[in-house]
Amino acid sequence: MTSLDDLAGVGVDRRGGFARHGFTGVDLELRAWFTAEARRRGLGVETDRNGNVWAWWGEPGEGAVVTGSHLDSVPGGGAFDGPLGVVAALNAVDLLRGRGFAPAKPLAVVVFVEEEGGRFGSACLGSRLLTGSIAPEEALALKDPDGNALAEAVRACGVDPGGLGRDEEALRRIGTFVELHVEQGRGLVDLGAPVGVASSILAHGRWRFRFRGEGNHAGATPMADRRDPMLAAAATVLAARTAATGGARATVGRLLPVPGGTNVIAAAVDLWLDARAHDTARTRAVVHTVTEAATRAARDEGCTVEVTEESYGDTVHFDPALRDDLAATLGGVPALPTGAGHDAGVLAAHTRTAMLFVRNPTGVSHAPEEFAEPADCAAGTEALADVLAHLAR
Ligand code: GLV
Ligand code: MN
Ligand code: MN
Ligand code: MN
Repeated sequence: MTSLDDLAGVGVDRRGGFARHGFTGVDLELRAWFTAEARRRGLGVETDRNGNVWAWWGEPGEGAVVTGSHLDSVPGGGAFDGPLGVVAALNAVDLLRGRGFAPAKPLAVVVFVEEEGGRFGSACLGSRLLTGSIAPEEALALKDPDGNALAEAVRACGVDPGGLGRDEEALRRIGTFVELHVEQGRGLVDLGAPVGVASSILAHGRWRFRFRGEGNHAGATPMADRRDPMLAAAATVLAARTAATGGARATVGRLLPVPGGTNVIAAAVDLWLDARAHDTARTRAVVHTVTEAATRAARDEGCTVEVTEESYGDTVHFDPALRDDLAATLGGVPALPTGAGHDAGVLAAHTRTAMLFVRNPTGVSHAPEEFAEPADCAAGTEALADVLAHLAR
């Protein structure tokens, strides 16, 4: 909790919560904090080709037991999503040392960059670059909302944009990855358990809808003469709600009218759809339904719409043998699914991967109300230490 308190002043979002985004000045502060905490523990710190930071207990090597998470947040994010996994990892190292444990395998704590995609719009950027799940050319085409190119942003953080991409050496080094994370729902509350293991992650992705109409005067333009892209965007928001049936989820959390003036009919509107479901077919069906509704609404208003997929990840089923092994190691903790995306979900397609969840009494996440009791954070850290000891013996 002291470590989370240390971070409480970093990247404060003046609207509430935190705004900690990848490859920014705030990111540099978070990296500096992590580096100092790791070095204080005698861990060897290095940054990989994609800007992810690694802290090694002993010599870096292949087949390591790796734990960690991310330090970035969504806009207005909570204090736990990401940082809890990093702080727990550092504290688990302390616990293991206190127990006199010496790992028989290399052990590392990793901080993945830009997990939330809060700046460049592409989720799990650091882990997807590392695994090759996103091509470097695609990443290098990304711009933040102010038009800053990813290449410049990574360079400012000491990362060579020419080196971005699948990192075979880093991948070979990961024998097993375990990410601890605050739960982002009420699953563990309902089960009455402080800690659980992850079973699966919903398929999920992000799509940008770009509506174009005619910018004009709010007072001088008769209603019948308008081509207002905001109308089509509004219909799309409503369509997302009705399309997400049978356990699917569809959200429009971000909408940008251009130029954005109270007395201006927008010339264009960008809108982002986040859609998730138990499998790819269902997720794509939701997006298809919303796209059809958007196309109809745009046509009715004399506007156009263009839809671009910004990122997508298929359903993740975590390695059942590892999941059961870890649950048993922890005395039979429950396994539960999640609708939230994680770097662990990206790594699961490439290496043996598991996740631990810590109970969140509010059930809220991606908002300042996100929480975990100190006692549950401690239980999670103990569980992580037990799991690391089990895997690294
Ligand atoms: C990340 O937390 C996501 O699920 O979007
Ligand atoms: Mn998150
Ligand atoms: Mn997270
Ligand atoms: Mn005027």
